[in-house]
Formats: sequence, structure tokens, C-alpha cells
Amino acid sequence: MLVLAIDTSCDDTSAAVIGEGRQLLSNVVSSQIALHQKYGGVVPELASRKHIESIVPIVTEALGMARARLSDIDGIAVTHGPGLVGSLLVGLSFAKSLSFATGIPFIGVNHIEGHLSAIFLEKEPPRFPYVGLVVSGGHTSLYRVDGFEKYTRLGQTRDDAAGEAFDKVAKFLGLGYPGGPVIDRLSKTGNPKAVRFPRPSLGKNSFDFSFSGLKTAVVNHVRLHPAPPEGYPEDLLQDIVSSFQEAVVEVLVRKTLQAVHHQKLRRVVLSGGVAANSHLRQRMVQESSEQGVKVYLPSPVFCTDNAAMIGVLGTEYLKKGLRSPYTLNAFSSLPL
Ligand code: KG4
Ligand code: ZN
Repeated sequence: MLVLAIDTSCDDTSAAVIGEGRQLLSNVVSSQIALHQKYGGVVPELASRKHIESIVPIVTEALGMARARLSDIDGIAVTHGPGLVGSLLVGLSFAKSLSFATGIPFIGVNHIEGHLSAIFLEKEPPRFPYVGLVVSGGHTSLYRVDGFEKYTRLGQTRDDAAGEAFDKVAKFLGLGYPGGPVIDRLSKTGNPKAVRFPRPSLGKNSFDFSFSGLKTAVVNHVRLHPAPPEGYPEDLLQDIVSSFQEAVVEVLVRKTLQAVHHQKLRRVVLSGGVAANSHLRQRMVQESSEQGVKVYLPSPVFCTDNAAMIGVLGTEYLKKGLRSPYTLNAFSSLPL
């Protein structure tokens, strides 16, 4: 079975082709970072317009790289939520039109479930059940995963997503968009113990997260220790972002491992853009191995938004014979 997958949930236009045995034949991601950078975040109207320009060339490129023709494709998988509705509608309408014109069946899938499925693109995927952490620009949630379609949410953020906190702190410090990769890089040479930022726990048995207080703590710290007119010296800036990253990572690792033990499981899977963070990956591996838990990390390119993860998930559903109707809509929020 050859599946064409499309994701236009936010500011990346992505198309991929998945072959038999979850073989990734192509995965093209066209980033809109340059377009949104000067605004310090994604401008939804601009994102939708750019998706419209990109969708045909990107799908054509993905088919070309996979050496596949449209007539070889057995199914189309497309994200229909959650995300920016204007962006989602471009990919979804394109997929529906393509399906209608060619008769190729299509299936709409959940973007969060796509992130959780990214690990199945790797050589050694986990066995079910496991605890999955989705940590991206829009979501920070913990799930017990017993199989495809079998998810139990254990906790989620009550305010900002972790990636959103990275982006907002970076924007406040004038570091540009997206903030995660910049903070990751700058933190490598900073002192993570320079500033003791709060680690919100929300109670012993809660698997919920809260990052907006941490973001405010960074803002307050900077206001109390203002930068000189020429800006912060590099080492001071590195210390601040490194201390912020340390607080985020500590909370993510601690809660995830608590959830694994609470569920009496021994496997944990990371996913979402923030799972590309080098410090989070390193700490998760280190602390898990100390506690006898096995960690599964998707390659960084499969952590940030990509159509390959949508293709892996869509293939599961299409193989079971599941199909979506042409009336399928796009949704800004779509719980698992
Ligand atoms: O999964 P994703 O590409 O899109 C959403 O579904 O939200 O995640 C994007 C988020 C952004 O907030 C970005 O700053 C963050 O992932 N991110 C990172 C890193 N790379 C991307 N955060 C921390 N460290 C990174 N290396
Ligand atoms: Zn995403």
C-alpha cells in the first residue's frame, strides 16, 4: 500500500509518501519561518495564503522523490485538526479534491495522534502500551497509549504549551521565532543553575502542566535585572535561557516518569517539536535509564511538524478500511 500524506496544520506545508512496511519514500517540509519571523510568531492569514501557493509543488515534489505517480497511490491521509483552521483547510480541501477527482480513498487524521505516531517511522518502534508525551507549540499532554485509536489522556497543560513558552520567552528577549531551537543552542554554553525559576507541580498526583507562570518569572527576572543599553552580554543571556530551559525540562521529565510509574509501565515515547530539544532528550534518557524505563525518541525531523507521521498513522487506518466522508471539516481543537 502506497499512501500520500499531507499536513498543513500550522506554518509548514508538508507532503510524504509511505510505502509497504512503513517505509518512508519521501518527506518534504516547506517551512514558512522566513515569512513569519519579522512578526515574532505565525500570522494565520499569511500562513493560509502561503499553503495555497505551496501545496501543489510540495505534493508534486514528494511524489517525484518517491518515484511514484498519482496512479500508484492507494490512499491519501491528511491532517484535519487541531491547528489553524485556515491552514488546515488548504491541505484538507486539496486532499478531498484529489480523492474526488481520482477515486483514491482518503482519511482525515488528528495532528496530535500523528505526533504520537512519529516513533513508528524509526527502526525500533515500541510495543504497546506506553506513556506518550506530546510536547509542541500547541500542546503539552501525557497519554497512556494502548494501541492506535486507544488513548487515555493522563494530563495536559492548563495554560501555555511548553513550545509556546519557549517561543514567548525568546520573543521577549528579542531572540526571534521560533524560540525553541535558539534557546536550545544558546543554553548549551549557559549555566542552568544561574537563576532558580519556578517548577510548577500542581499537586503530587496531577499530570497537568502549567508554563505561563514560568514565562512570567523570566519576564519579572529581566525587569528586575534590566539589560544595559547595549543589550545583555552573551553569557548573561545564555544563563537566563539555560535556567529557563532547565526548569521546563525538569518538569517535563519528572511528570512523564511519574506518569509511567503511576501506570505501572516501563516504556515512554516523546513527540512534538519540543522533543527535538537536545537537553530534554539527554535528561529523559539519563533519568529513565536510572529508573529502569526505556525511552523512545523520534529523530528530530520527525518531532517537528511533518507529513511522514501523518502517513504512518493514516496507513494504519486505511489498512483497516477506514475512510472519511467528503463532508469532513477542519477543527482548531480536536481532542484525541
Ligand atoms: O510540533 P511543532 O513543529 O508544531 C506544533 O504542532 O506546535 O512544534 C513547534 C514548537 C515551537 O514552539 C518550537 O519553538 C518548538 O516546537 N521547538 C523546540 C525545538 N525545536 C522546535 N523547542 C525546544 N527545543 C528545540 N530544539
Ligand atoms: Zn505539530
